[in-house]
Amino acid sequence: MARFPDLWMGELLEKNDIVSVISGYMQLKPKGRKFWGLCPFHSEKTPSFSVSPDKQLYYCFGCHSGGGVIHFVMEMEHLSFIDAVKLLSERAGLVMPGFIDGEKMQQEKAFKDRLYAANKEAALYYHSMLKSDRGEKARKYLSKRGLDARMITRFGIGYAPEGWNNLTGYLSPKGFTTEELLGADLALQKDGRVYDKYRDRIIFPIVGTNGKVLGFGARTMGTEQPKYINTSDTPVFSKRNNLYGLNLQKGSRIADLVIVEGYTDVISLSKAGIANVVASLGTALTEQQARLMKRFAGKVYICYDGDSAGQESTLRGLDILRKEGLTVRVIVMPEGADPDEYVAANGKDAFEALKDRALTLPEFKLERLASKFDMSTADGREAYALEACGFISTLQPVEQERYIASVSRKTGLSLETLAGQVSISAVDNKNSIGNYRNTKVKKQRETLSERAKAERTLAMCLAKDRDTAMYVLKKFPPGRFGEQAYENFSLELLSIYSEGAEADVPLLLSRLEEQDAEKVAQLFVDDEGFCDMKSIADDCIKAIERADIRSEIVKLSEKAEAPGLPETERRMLIKKIAELQKQLI
Ligand code: UTP
Ligand code: MN
Repeated sequence: MARFPDLWMGELLEKNDIVSVISGYMQLKPKGRKFWGLCPFHSEKTPSFSVSPDKQLYYCFGCHSGGGVIHFVMEMEHLSFIDAVKLLSERAGLVMPGFIDGEKMQQEKAFKDRLYAANKEAALYYHSMLKSDRGEKARKYLSKRGLDARMITRFGIGYAPEGWNNLTGYLSPKGFTTEELLGADLALQKDGRVYDKYRDRIIFPIVGTNGKVLGFGARTMGTEQPKYINTSDTPVFSKRNNLYGLNLQKGSRIADLVIVEGYTDVISLSKAGIANVVASLGTALTEQQARLMKRFAGKVYICYDGDSAGQESTLRGLDILRKEGLTVRVIVMPEGADPDEYVAANGKDAFEALKDRALTLPEFKLERLASKFDMSTADGREAYALEACGFISTLQPVEQERYIASVSRKTGLSLETLAGQVSISAVDNKNSIGNYRNTKVKKQRETLSERAKAERTLAMCLAKDRDTAMYVLKKFPPGRFGEQAYENFSLELLSIYSEGAEADVPLLLSRLEEQDAEKVAQLFVDDEGFCDMKSIADDCIKAIERADIRSEIVKLSEKAEAPGLPETERRMLIKKIAELQKQLI
């Protein structure tokens, strides 16, 4: 974990007064020694979000979210710690300094640099192989698929020749060690023998927004399985945190992004002149990827394959994107087609036309619903209308009208009939178990995030000083944090303090795994805490306990609802639930 020089950090914080930064996002009103407003991190009607200009900290008495100006920007903008610091340094007109690294960090960084270098050399090697005599078969394959020299250059496409030691034989004399080749996942090892991971495959380098080669996707030219072999997670690559093609968006101002499934989809669309396209790297879309996209655009079109697997991933992807606050649309591919084939056969304008007709989330759900009924019979259309109205009744009233119209067009039923049905369904919803379950699941999620917020604030109390830490450790001993980083942190602190030693931050960080260290280092940024840190810790512990009780209630009520449960057991569960509920009052 990088730590910034204290002096520089001091200047950054001084020039980014927390009240003025937060005022850029929301309205704050002075009252007493603090400023107050409606918490941007949970919904509320009376202000419980406080900002202390003296302490340069914020804290929400409603959701227990708290921290310094950097934490606020991280949460508000969905940025990593370092990117939040960057944003604030730009705001203050400061130049980012180099990081001060501990020895271990320095070693790790040096190793990463070697992996980047190995990846870069490998990409150049594969690219040159494609152009060499040995690459003839691969060039033919690419040209058959319509990928011309321009695309080969733009995407740095290459070819890994047949044989076990082409790349290893090329990189070893250049000074790359076996550890580095294995570390970058360019080579594999079996029975002591080291050999090339990619053999006789087309190579698609994956380049990060930092311009560095992070890893590779390698496609067979035949029918062999698996079709693609990809770089597994390495110190410089994690597929959950990256998107193929995002490096090409850097610097370009774009109104929206299109997300597709495959490498070849990105390339074909780019060839056709549609450049704002990225691909998730063969995994279900992740939250991290959604956040990455949000840095580039506010609107995302999902354009997955027209098959049923593609449609299922679309549904999941939509939810993830929406949760990050992105506007989402679905580009519907004709059955069986993927974007690559579609644009190759029909051209750019046809694709743009599909994009113009992209569906909103409710439209997409209604379309999917329709495909489950036989719409050629009156029975089928009525059954569809019934389900569709049930769904429409869960939407905001202002949204309902246009979807009622669309169901009317599909079924031939009148608008009045359908509107009537929607209002009946709305009443049913209130009583129905389905809806009851939904709100409970939602509650549970809220509970989780509330617990996470309280945990971070509590961990900040741990980081404050020995006195506060001992207070917290006594009331909240290790074993209760859900966040592994904080758990490990509290264990380390306990062992340091019980030895009578003082907590030396760099030393402590060096004892933690890198991922944990990054999370924990963030806790130390603000030297000064609230004066009443202990009472905030009490607050957070209470919040965590209440969150746990609430999840327990949800768990028990799900058990109690299970069909076929003996009545005696059900009664016992209900009694337990009632006892827990009492504790919440
Ligand atoms: P597709 O099967 O749609 O491949 O998988 P594609 O990109 O369209 O490739 P072509 O057109 O057949 O050449 C979509 C993505 O899923 C991942 C890859 O990232 C691929 O681009 N994938 C697929 C794998 O990682 N491994 C596989 O075996 C298959
Ligand atoms: Mn394809």
